[in-house]
Amino acid sequence: MKYDAQDCKLVAKYQLTSTIYDFRLRNEELAAITRPGQFAHILVPGKTLRRPISVCDVEGDIIRVVFEVRGEGTEILSHSETGDIVNIIAPLGNGFDIPEDKRIAFIGGGIGVPPMLYSAKTAGSSCTVINGFRDKSAVILTEDFRKIGCRFIETTDNGSYGIHGFVTSPLEEIIDEIDMICACGPTPMLKNIASLAEKHGKECLVSLEQRMACGVGACLGCAVGIKNEKGELTYKHVCKNGPVFRAEEVIW
Ligand SMILES: Cc1cc2nc3c(=O)[nH]c(=O)nc-3n(C[C@H](O)[C@H](O)[C@H](O)COP(=O)(O)OP(=O)(O)OC[C@H]3O[C@@H](n4cnc5c(N)ncnc54)[C@H](O)[C@@H]3O)c2cc1C
Ligand code: FES
Repeated sequence: MKYDAQDCKLVAKYQLTSTIYDFRLRNEELAAITRPGQFAHILVPGKTLRRPISVCDVEGDIIRVVFEVRGEGTEILSHSETGDIVNIIAPLGNGFDIPEDKRIAFIGGGIGVPPMLYSAKTAGSSCTVINGFRDKSAVILTEDFRKIGCRFIETTDNGSYGIHGFVTSPLEEIIDEIDMICACGPTPMLKNIASLAEKHGKECLVSLEQRMACGVGACLGCAVGIKNEKGELTYKHVCKNGPVFRAEEVIW
């Protein structure tokens, strides 16, 4: 596997909420090989370590990334302007394996919602999407998900928009109508989804977030405890072996 850093042109930039940005990066070669659930390791001007951001969507030669300003790196990145060059290593990670013959529920929580867009678009209108947010001010990508034409549910923790409560309530209501779950979001959400999936005997893939340095499996910075086939503890790299893991192998 070759990990070349490549330049992309920032062809459009949108601000989705007070802290969330939507970047459209042009690179035909990378767009052609990027799969749902993979991520880009983005060089931040003035920083040595890159920042991992999931691919939100791919359209033609455009890779779309949606990120929240959390610390210094994402703050600097948010000041990039249309026409700037953004250097990325991508596509990285395994991504979601999306079988054509399964009824899939894609579940996103907060800033875990963006990678669900490309994933759900790939599955098409027969899938279900359930996105959960803290409150109305954090809701993103509604129109993009509506365009897929699939069953689409949104929740907020405080009921200020969509269904009041966590994503797990609507999931439990429709769980008998699906075969498989793909989820990305905060760890407590993933853990609850994993236990619902286990209870109902549904296949479940979760995308994990871990602090990263190299992003390509060379530094051990992103190791996570995983159960092997015998149920014994082993360590895997979220950047290289993940970020997507089978829920039953994750040690919560
Ligand atoms: C596979 C993957 C996909 C991600 N996708 C998205 C996304 O689509 N949108 C989004 O907003 N965020 C995403 N994140 C989280 C994002 O990488 C962090 O918010 C970001 O790196 C924080 O950098 P910072 O410099 O602003 O913060 P700081 O806290 O100042 O970062 C300092 C260092 O820690 C690392 N770091 C900090 N937080 C994280 C974190 N949560 N995960 C990994 N490294 C971290 C940074 O790379 C940097 O080296 C993803 C993380 C992973 C692992
Ligand atoms: S970040 Fe270096 S091994 Fe994963």
